[in-house]
Amino acid sequence: MSDKKASNAMWGGRFASGPAAIMEAINASIGFDKKLYAQDIRGSIAHSEMLAETRIIERQDQEKIAHGLNTILAEIEAGDFEFSTRLEDIHMNIEARLAELIGPAAGRLHTARSRNDQVALDFRLWVKDELHRVAEALKGLIAAFLTRAEHHAATVMPGFTHMQTAQPVTFGHHCMAYIEMFSRDLSRMRDAIERMDESPLGAAALAGTGFPIDRQMTAKALGFREPTRNSLDSVSDRDFALEFLSIAAICATHLSRLAEEIVIWSTPQFGFVRLSDSFSTGSSIMPQKKNPDAAELVRAKTGRVNGHLIGLLTVMKGLPLTYSKDMQEDKEAVFDAAETLDLMLAAMTGMVGDMEINEAAMKKAAGSGYSTATDLADWLVRTLGLPFREAHHVTGRAVALAESRKLGLEKLSLKDLQSVHPGITDDVFSVLSVQNSVKSRTSFGGTAPAEVRKQIRYWKKRLGKA
Ligand code: ARG
Repeated sequence: MSDKKASNAMWGGRFASGPAAIMEAINASIGFDKKLYAQDIRGSIAHSEMLAETRIIERQDQEKIAHGLNTILAEIEAGDFEFSTRLEDIHMNIEARLAELIGPAAGRLHTARSRNDQVALDFRLWVKDELHRVAEALKGLIAAFLTRAEHHAATVMPGFTHMQTAQPVTFGHHCMAYIEMFSRDLSRMRDAIERMDESPLGAAALAGTGFPIDRQMTAKALGFREPTRNSLDSVSDRDFALEFLSIAAICATHLSRLAEEIVIWSTPQFGFVRLSDSFSTGSSIMPQKKNPDAAELVRAKTGRVNGHLIGLLTVMKGLPLTYSKDMQEDKEAVFDAAETLDLMLAAMTGMVGDMEINEAAMKKAAGSGYSTATDLADWLVRTLGLPFREAHHVTGRAVALAESRKLGLEKLSLKDLQSVHPGITDDVFSVLSVQNSVKSRTSFGGTAPAEVRKQIRYWKKRLGKA
């Protein structure tokens, strides 16, 4: 099977013939790691700059190298660069082209460096940039949600547990629950950026190098806080990729929960929201239908992101130190998760921004299912001094009575309520409406509109600073 090609130009010294076609296919990563071209060139320019500064290479050679690398950058961006599978990956594709452009000086670039620290660097730079991008996108979604929350701080809707009507809450409060979730995602992104802010460049193959390199200098030039502290770990660590994927998976999971709620809310049975035409589709056979496809796809794409996390964890599991080729499998997972998450965030920001809220439907549903029963029990405790358990029991009887009459609790007469407990007075009706129920939940973090507005102010200030 082995097709006789020339041995690899970079490391082919000890090989008599070129790799078999299958070997080339399984070995090559250029199909996906070409995405790292800008990071690779940035890293190489910083490396060459340092090599010249420390007099490891001649300044003239460095100038040729930097000029050549910038030419390559322009070629790639113009779509004029020919990527070759034979050259395996982005690092060797660029280096080979550099040799074509500038001749022997190109051979000096790889002094005191290995593809192992090179790829660790490129990928880290990429993930760090992506985290900044994703954080910005997430801030857009948070802003869209805050606007909704402000508008609807007092709009009542049913709150659910077990997907059963539990107690009335406000839609603003519900929106703010997502702000909490997404803000945690944002803070996870910031934490991860902070942790990955160390440059592995200069770890070389695994053991460091005897050349008098200056790792502080390259770290600084590439925007890192400092260099990594252990050369072995530097080339074998992919925690930054795993952290990215776990943050993406948690964020996607949050998006999927919101997506599911949007799917439920937009059913004719609920009718809480109406999606704009731009984020729904019609049915080819049922003319009345408007399907929440974008929300369903956000829900589904979460599986893909979560899968990538498990995929890379499984690749890394049990790998001995330091670099193994297994680690080349890190990139597609991260690239696809990133692209997917970007799309999910954009779709969700669009949906949240332009869905119509049906306040009347929410209010109607808020009062169904005896949602203010807890308010009655609390009134019995507060006003009549009943122990909560007894109040719970009395309220249960009131609910049963209302149910038998097919009425809401607030529609029972005072006489009916007194048949359940003689101490009940007219005052009880003040707590049985959904509006009053919601207004009464003034505990810190509770659903009272005043409290919701307070939390909105808090987050606006906090995120404004972020
Ligand atoms: N394409 C490789 C990767 O992504 C680059 C590092 C190769 N290192 C090596 N020793 N073969 O992991």
